[in-house]
Amino acid sequence: MDKFIIKGGRRLTGEVTISGAKNAAVAILPAVILSDEPCVIENVPNISDVNICLRILTEMGAEVTKLDANIYRIDPTKIDKYCVPYETARKMRASYYFLGALLGKFGKARVSMPGGCPLGDRPIDQHLKAFSSLGAEYTLSQGMIDLHSEKLRGSQIFFDVVTVGATMNAMLAAVKAEGLTVIENAAKEPHIVDLANFLNSMGANIMGAGTDVIKIRGVERLRGTTYAVIPDQIEAGTFMAAIAATKGDVLIKNVIPKHLESITKKMEKIGVNIEQFDDSIRVWVDGPLVKANIKTAPHPGFPTDMQSQIATLLTLAKGTSIITENIWDQRFGYVDELRRMGADITVNGKVALVEGTGKLMGAPVKACDLRAGAALIIAGLAASGVTEIEDIFHIERGYDCMEGKLRALGADIEKVSI
Ligand code: EPU
Repeated sequence: MDKFIIKGGRRLTGEVTISGAKNAAVAILPAVILSDEPCVIENVPNISDVNICLRILTEMGAEVTKLDANIYRIDPTKIDKYCVPYETARKMRASYYFLGALLGKFGKARVSMPGGCPLGDRPIDQHLKAFSSLGAEYTLSQGMIDLHSEKLRGSQIFFDVVTVGATMNAMLAAVKAEGLTVIENAAKEPHIVDLANFLNSMGANIMGAGTDVIKIRGVERLRGTTYAVIPDQIEAGTFMAAIAATKGDVLIKNVIPKHLESITKKMEKIGVNIEQFDDSIRVWVDGPLVKANIKTAPHPGFPTDMQSQIATLLTLAKGTSIITENIWDQRFGYVDELRRMGADITVNGKVALVEGTGKLMGAPVKACDLRAGAALIIAGLAASGVTEIEDIFHIERGYDCMEGKLRALGADIEKVSI
């Protein structure tokens, strides 16, 4: 078990490079299964969720070769197992993408019910609805999902809620199905577009990704390709919050500024200066931080995955901010820990009131999920004194060398084994 020890109060300055997007990579890696030839995937972040994906691919019979720090060649042609067992699936939510990819390629899949961050009820009814629409049958027993189909056929899929995972899974299953699939009320996140671009680069015919109607005309076969994963918009947003919290001045490189729009707008409202370039942004603070109200929403709204980080920033701002979490029932788990550091936050259902006290104090705390852990790092960087963060395995699921990147910006953070 490792923990982070942070001595707070240092301004972040310099340059940082953002890694590939977790939530794109964990879909693109299983999607390689659909190819009839090897693929090379670049800009793959070095995080534990990705390592689990690569391990699952290897266990199924794929040949995975690391070509460089963030580049993998994956040959899926020898895959001869269609099962993702409990031991691996429980470690990560995105194991459900193996359902869509295996079903789309082989017409069968057996995957354990997924694990992942404890954010409340995480149903998969919409995933199953999509698979059924395409002609698959499923059974759920002993914690396993079994999918089977003689022949997948294109169909009309209307999602009852906007869901990233089910939209991606429907794309994976439909890409080789016979005829036309139309997904309505689709999610529009940048990683949806990234998965569509990847599949299209293999020869798929997907139109409309990034809008709420995605049309997929099934193709017979998909070929090998070389593809780079988009930069992680949430990692970039997390650094933006950390820089602002320490009143720093940093150039964040390898970003797509358009993907950061909702985060940038809120940060500017809070008093953070942001200058945009083609593939980088400069973030700095030279005045007071002020309150803002945040409501999380599917893209292009403010991302739930940035809610805890911006709440932490707002504890340092002047005034009372109101935060409404509209995606997950239990995403205020970090609040108790922030209170231990002197934050004044009251939670009532899906609303949190953040009284900006302007300061935080170091304390021993525990990460309860990935983004909660990111929030505690931001708090520790801004706090006076020493913060010790336990359960950092949550953070390492989704941030590529967070402590190394922060140290290079001047933070006093180290990882120690307990
Ligand atoms: N939902 C259903 N039925 C379903 C699927 C979802 O009711 O079959 C509901 C969920 O309960 C939730 C809402 O729809 O209220 C949105 O869920 P979604 O399916 O979009 O979430 P997800 O695919 O499970 C991904 C990210 C999350 C991120 C959400 C929302 C991955 C691996 N995970 O989860 O990322 O919070 O989209 O943007 O892509 C994170 O990175 O920290 C993280 C939790």
